[in-house]
Amino acid sequence: MAAELINGKEIAQELRSQLVRDIRYLAEKDIIPGLAVVLVGDDPASRTYVTMKQKACEKLGLYSRLIELEETISEKELLDIVKQLNNDDDIDGILVQLPLPKHIEETTIIEAISPEKDVDGFHPINIGRMMTGQDSFLPCTPYGIIKLIEAINVPLEGKHVVVVGRSNIVGKPMGQLCLNRNATVTYCHSKTSDLQKHTSQADILISAVGVRGLITKDHVKDGAIVIDVAMNRDEENKLCGDVIFEEVKEKASFITPVPGGVGPMTITMLLYNTIKSTKRKL
Ligand code: GUN
Repeated sequence: MAAELINGKEIAQELRSQLVRDIRYLAEKDIIPGLAVVLVGDDPASRTYVTMKQKACEKLGLYSRLIELEETISEKELLDIVKQLNNDDDIDGILVQLPLPKHIEETTIIEAISPEKDVDGFHPINIGRMMTGQDSFLPCTPYGIIKLIEAINVPLEGKHVVVVGRSNIVGKPMGQLCLNRNATVTYCHSKTSDLQKHTSQADILISAVGVRGLITKDHVKDGAIVIDVAMNRDEENKLCGDVIFEEVKEKASFITPVPGGVGPMTITMLLYNTIKSTKRKL
């Protein structure tokens, strides 16, 4: 039987309508949540993501400020800008779009962002809080995936979750958030010797690698839930994920499409975190 689609667009829309209620409540108190997005250089993919984030802010009625900087900006100059934003009362969330140019140390910049405005959830303080199960800003993509799994009413407790990919942005925090919800978690990565052996045992398989065609039907257990985080391009330049959708959907119980699965959730959780930051000030 073919899998049920997990409709990220619809689930994101539902969450955004809840956020609109929060924004109206804040507006009654003359408070508008503000997000600063810092874009260094002119990477086309980064620019596309940043534009999508800004548009989503504007649509919901958040204040968004785009700070565009030359590729050649020094680390010190960028640090000064981050510090200014930390002290700016109109700004509740700061997002420095990654990757940064090679001459700038990403961890130095991330650590300079106030943990109270780190709506990406990348600051070590927020990562530490997440690991110990304390309240924190959670990284937007993994948090969005948790919301997708909640939306289909599947409890994570006792499930075997296999995460393929171990990036700081997605893979690592993804496993941690599942562990925090009492799942048993396996991480696979480029040095895993027998990927299929692990993935085929997953109740929930989450792939965040960026390799088209990596996950075939043979990697998936009958009835598994399959979440595809990747955004690859096929030979016709169409968006696609890591999962061979057409064959895996015949085996899975639920599956996310690409596009329209995880993608819309990432931006929604960024808005969610920004509003959370604003509400914390009250
Ligand atoms: N680059 C790719 N994804 C992200 C993200 O979620 N946040 C930031 N800041 N940069 C990114």
